[in-house]
Amino acid sequence: MADGTTTSALRPLSDIPILPKLPIIGSLPWLYHPEGFMPRMLELIEQHRDVGALRVERPDGIIPIFVGNVSLAEDLVDENRFEKVLDGPLVHIRDFAGDGLFTAHSDEDNWHKANRILAPGFSTASLERYYPAMTETLERLLEHWLRANGPVDVVPDMTKLTLDTISLAGFDHRFDSFESTELHPFLQAIARTLQESIDVLQRPLFVEPLFRKHRARYQRDIESLFCLVDDVIRERKRLPEEKWPRDFLSLMLTVPDPKSGEKLSDKNIRYQILTFLVAGHETTAGLLSFAFHALARDRELFLRVRREVDEAVGRQGMPTMKQVLELDLVRRVLHESLRLWPTVPAVTRAAKEDTSMGPYVAPKGRPFGLLLNAIHRDPAVWKEPTRFDPDRFLPEAVKARPAAAYKPFGIGKRACTGKHFALIEASLCLAMVVREMDFEDPGPLRLTPTISPKPKGFRLRVRRRAA
Ligand code: HEM
Repeated sequence: MADGTTTSALRPLSDIPILPKLPIIGSLPWLYHPEGFMPRMLELIEQHRDVGALRVERPDGIIPIFVGNVSLAEDLVDENRFEKVLDGPLVHIRDFAGDGLFTAHSDEDNWHKANRILAPGFSTASLERYYPAMTETLERLLEHWLRANGPVDVVPDMTKLTLDTISLAGFDHRFDSFESTELHPFLQAIARTLQESIDVLQRPLFVEPLFRKHRARYQRDIESLFCLVDDVIRERKRLPEEKWPRDFLSLMLTVPDPKSGEKLSDKNIRYQILTFLVAGHETTAGLLSFAFHALARDRELFLRVRREVDEAVGRQGMPTMKQVLELDLVRRVLHESLRLWPTVPAVTRAAKEDTSMGPYVAPKGRPFGLLLNAIHRDPAVWKEPTRFDPDRFLPEAVKARPAAAYKPFGIGKRACTGKHFALIEASLCLAMVVREMDFEDPGPLRLTPTISPKPKGFRLRVRRRAA
């Protein structure tokens, strides 16, 4: 095998415990949880920490293997032996994100091409270019919350903030979400299509005919997403090129792949835009919502964060991007939120050649679902794993842990393209809201059963900071 181990020394995957299962519906009855599939998987892994892995049977008969211990994860994150593969919801998200960066296969030409073209768009210099879009959109949120001076619905407001930011920075498109109380129809269509990509996996095949209308709605939603994005591309092409803003869209339309000399096709650009809009807002909106929830429950930490912001930025005006990058405690609060509530709660890896995963054989191509929410709480690595403690991200603590213990932005060459964008956007928002406002304790956290988890029914009482 690739790592020199002999297969006979390894245990078969069938030795991994399997949840009970029934004909036609598989393990479904054992997978229900009011807060969704991922919290249930976390619960189940907690019960099987000695093994660190679990098999379940889907209604379609497929048996995914889920892994949740850091010791097993150390094999799965090894880029020489394992790679990202599409499985579970990603297969369905590909219906509308096509061969965009997130849902492309690792060996697909368009992934390599788009990665070479787009990666420079995420350098620090490029992020400086998008920073004004972040501050402009944040102004809208601050106005909205200061005016409210009472309860605000955090998750929809964070969703508006992050969608407006990525669309303005990336494509010079304004959703102007804060002008309306409703979520933009585009956002509603995205939310429904994403949810369907996970719901479809949990429906027994025999109920599918009952979901015909639902599937037709899904197709219509996808058409409406394509329509909006194609309009954005058309509008850009109508402008003379010298007037094009320096954003992701112009980059994709003008810059050829340095290797092949070819540009991205319009169809692929459509997929990339949808990818950035989808990948670039849900996840950051969830991160900010969890971070606000944690701060609202811990006044002492809240005040520590405020002190840091007051000292680094002062009491007036927006910070520069450089100042935002220096907000160390703010950054650690965000990392600790992503540890406890990773907004992409799982990624899928498969062996490139037959190899081992811990004591088990890992046959080439067999997918393993790596549960980020479970490795982030593995008690073998994290002391008191459920306690919110940003100091876990002090440099010495980070150095002392295996790198595989914390992977909220994914792994290796398929890790998140927008990581720095997300962290700057979220740091800016967290810092400014804490500087300008006080919160009341919202009570205990519950999660939504959505593909990217969020705090459920999270209303926060905000008021302008006393002078
Ligand atoms: C807190 C916010 C975010 C989190 C937690 C997050 C997490 C992740 C994770 C875990 C992956 C890997 C998925 C996999 O292996 O299947 C990923 C990939 C990706 N993310 Fe993010 N992301 C965030 C924000 C963003 C933003 C703001 C953008 C765009 C501006 C973005 C764009 C992408 C893209 C394009 C990929 C695919 C990369 C590739 O495979 O080449 N993400 N993200």
